[in-house]
Amino acid sequence: MTTIGWIGTGNLGKAIVERLLSQGYQVVLYNRTKKNAASLLDLGDTWCDSPVEVAKQAQLIFLCLTGPQATDTILWSTQTSLKHQLQAHHCIVDISTIAPDMAIELSNRLNEYGTSYLECPVSGGAQGASAGTLAAIIAGPQAVFDKYQTVIQAFTLQVTYVGEAGKAQKLKILNNMAESINLLGAIEVLSTGCKLGLDVATMEQAFMSCRGRSAYMQVALDFLKSNETSHVGLDVRCKDMALATEHIGSLAHLPMSQLAKQLFDTTYGQFGPKGDQCDYFELLTRHN
Ligand SMILES: NC(=O)c1ccc[n+]([C@@H]2O[C@H](COP(=O)([O-])OP(=O)(O)OC[C@H]3O[C@@H](n4cnc5c(N)ncnc54)[C@H](OP(=O)(O)O)[C@@H]3O)[C@@H](O)[C@H]2O)c1
Repeated sequence: MTTIGWIGTGNLGKAIVERLLSQGYQVVLYNRTKKNAASLLDLGDTWCDSPVEVAKQAQLIFLCLTGPQATDTILWSTQTSLKHQLQAHHCIVDISTIAPDMAIELSNRLNEYGTSYLECPVSGGAQGASAGTLAAIIAGPQAVFDKYQTVIQAFTLQVTYVGEAGKAQKLKILNNMAESINLLGAIEVLSTGCKLGLDVATMEQAFMSCRGRSAYMQVALDFLKSNETSHVGLDVRCKDMALATEHIGSLAHLPMSQLAKQLFDTTYGQFGPKGDQCDYFELLTRHN
């Protein structure tokens, strides 16, 4: 089986690596903060001290990183960035959600090393990764996609292949706008239900059987029931809405999207980078 190189073991990366291990893949990994990968090393993954070490041990390398700064550090800007080891046999599969223009630039720049690049943003969260039910949108050369799709299918249920560079990230950013609006709407409905004295189990049964149901109604319900992390940080949500603003130019003509961005930014202002995407619940409670 292909040895997989993995860089970035945050909320999503960790869950996908666990899934790959459960499917029998050998994974060699690097993360900026080693202790954040400790649980994976306990499961039998091989630790690499730098991105360069990952590229020495694996041809297929996944990135699952916060955004542009992290990507730049891992690929280009340090003594141990991947660029020092990249060759024609390497393929970078980028799980991160990044700007479409940046994806096109990465593809072109990596091609100078002969290295292939696939955009592979996903949806479905850590839960979907664990269950192998993520949805992926993929752009890049068809032959490269064909070569590696078996590995990608180890953690996905649905794959939409769109070919043209930048297009997968464009679709993902628009999908994230819908996710963000849906999540905030679900939180407002559930928060209001609680205030009106409705219990969560009854709301779950009613809303998830009626047309109020959505994937993000379930995310909000799960957060309310467990009061544990939803495995998506507020910083990731704010980044997603910032990417949408940057790509579209302005959200001024899209009031729902603009308001979603403002609400996540306000929540981030209160809860900071360690906050959860569902902390809007707490903000509503404080203000009511
Ligand atoms: N969470 C989800 O459910 C989900 C779903 C779909 C798409 N995504 C996308 O997947 C990507 C990862 O999301 P996540 O939720 O896993 O994020 P996360 O939990 O915040 O993890 C971010 C990862 O990036 C690394 N990183 C951050 N800044 C870095 C830097 N300057 N240099 C090197 N490494 C750096 C972090 O390393 P440290 O451990 O050292 O901080 C960590 O491994 C994002 O692009 C997100 O939009 C996430």
